[in-house]
Amino acid sequence: MKQLLRQLTQIPGPSGYEHQIREAIRDLVADFADEITTDALGNLIVRKGKAGQGKRIMLAAHMDEIGVMVSHTDENGFARFAPIGGVRPFYCLGGRVRFLNGRVGIINREKTPDPAKVPTLDQMFIDLGSARHGIGVGDVAAFDRTFEDLGERVVSKALDDRAGVAVLISALRQLESTPHEVYFVFSVQEEVGVRGATTAAFHIAPDIGIAVDVTGWGDTPKVPPMVDVALGKGPAIKIRDSGMLAAPQVVRWMISTAEKAGIPYQREVLLSGSTDARAIQLSRAGVPAGTISIPCRYVHSPSEMIDIRDAENAAALLAAMLSKEVPF
Ligand code: CO
Ligand code: ZN
Repeated sequence: MKQLLRQLTQIPGPSGYEHQIREAIRDLVADFADEITTDALGNLIVRKGKAGQGKRIMLAAHMDEIGVMVSHTDENGFARFAPIGGVRPFYCLGGRVRFLNGRVGIINREKTPDPAKVPTLDQMFIDLGSARHGIGVGDVAAFDRTFEDLGERVVSKALDDRAGVAVLISALRQLESTPHEVYFVFSVQEEVGVRGATTAAFHIAPDIGIAVDVTGWGDTPKVPPMVDVALGKGPAIKIRDSGMLAAPQVVRWMISTAEKAGIPYQREVLLSGSTDARAIQLSRAGVPAGTISIPCRYVHSPSEMIDIRDAENAAALLAAMLSKEVPF
């Protein structure tokens, strides 16, 4: 799992520009899939199990990450930028971005009489270090930060949602057979509004939908006791977020499978944010949907942190669910 995360997190894939990460995932799943397709938006759709048997189950983990897009450049090597997804200004200052051609830029700010105040994104720029940088309007970059192994915990940019991608890959590899028709969808453009999962769900028309994504945390200093999720206590079974009320029968299926298999889990009520499961749930005439979450600190910062055991247990839970009949 760690090796998988080290590889997946370091590949840049801002929303809409997922081709590099898609090719890497395709290579990692090729030996375990019954069919692999890519749709018009770029979702990578991997089927396991015979077409027409059991339930048609759609799993989704988004392969895109937040990033920036250049909106203006000047003759001195500075670029202005627009956010791709939920970019937080206070995480940007002093950070680095890497363009898809490998070029690195650093983010800093206009000089201001009030340096203690966090600037807005339009008061920042990317310093490309030279006027001869080859970067132009519309070019995109991902945040740049190394993967670090802290033992049980790992730190990287883009654990949102390469952690989910790694869980899906690991579950697929563990699943020797399934009585269902399972679609592992590595979705695009989640960070700009669950767009890839929207079209993939329409295409697949699943009986059940499950997203795997990161969620918030409540176990750092002076966090008000609003979120009861902690790193290392198991995957979080989502009951509610600000975009979805998980289908109760899907929640019960997850909890009963975890209890039978002796897999630790937490119950999750997330106050803000949502996942691809929202898009699946509202697809066509409606789909029972839920989410298995990986607790993650500092989401959308370049140094997100997860507990590796939560990812391993999430993969084990998914594989256990997919290997048996669905109880509804
Ligand atoms: Co995100
Ligand atoms: Zn995410």
